Amino acid sequence: MKDMNTKILIPIFIGIFSLLLFSCNNEEEKATCSADVKVSPINPNGDSELALLMRKMYDDADSIKKLITNNEGNITEEYIKELERIHTAIPTDKKVKTPEFEAYTKLMVEEANALFSNETNKAEGFNSLVNRCVECHQRFCPGPIDKIKKLSLPNSSEGGA
Ligand code: HEC
Repeated sequence: MKDMNTKILIPIFIGIFSLLLFSCNNEEEKATCSADVKVSPINPNGDSELALLMRKMYDDADSIKKLITNNEGNITEEYIKELERIHTAIPTDKKVKTPEFEAYTKLMVEEANALFSNETNKAEGFNSLVNRCVECHQRFCPGPIDKIKKLSLPNSSEGGA
């Protein structure tokens, strides 16, 4: 009888233990995601492909913002291709690649295409795109949200004329 009990109890304990480990891990990874950005923009401890891509996306979005502000240009097909690379880029935390994550990526690419064909109010289109970044970040990686929001253009006449 004693043997039976151990045989049943050990797997149960292992089960509970791994559940605990799993939930702790989750917390940790979320924390890493937000901390990384605040501590240093360049993390020497090996950045994921997705993190590097995001950083480039951010810098390029900043350039596009300037083009739109000065009425010198718009989002490019090249930039949209960059956004599409999110689908394949490997993240720090592989668990983020859920169907929900894919859906957010798709919404953002659609918003980028809308801006690409928008000649009337690029500032508004650009801000909608920035909102798509923020939406996914609220769900998966809240750390850089304040930084991303700063990309937004003042919502007035800028894109017009
Ligand atoms: C589909 C979800 C999603 C969308 C959309 C998204 N991000 Fe991210 N972003 C993430 C995730 C997840 C990470 C964490 C990457 C990692 O650590 O592997 C991240 C990381 C970042 C980082 C931090 C990179 C670093 O230095 O470690 C920045 C900055 C960033 N994103 C900016 C943007 C901008 C700008 C946009 C819109 C043009 C955007 N993101 C759209 C999910 C998203």
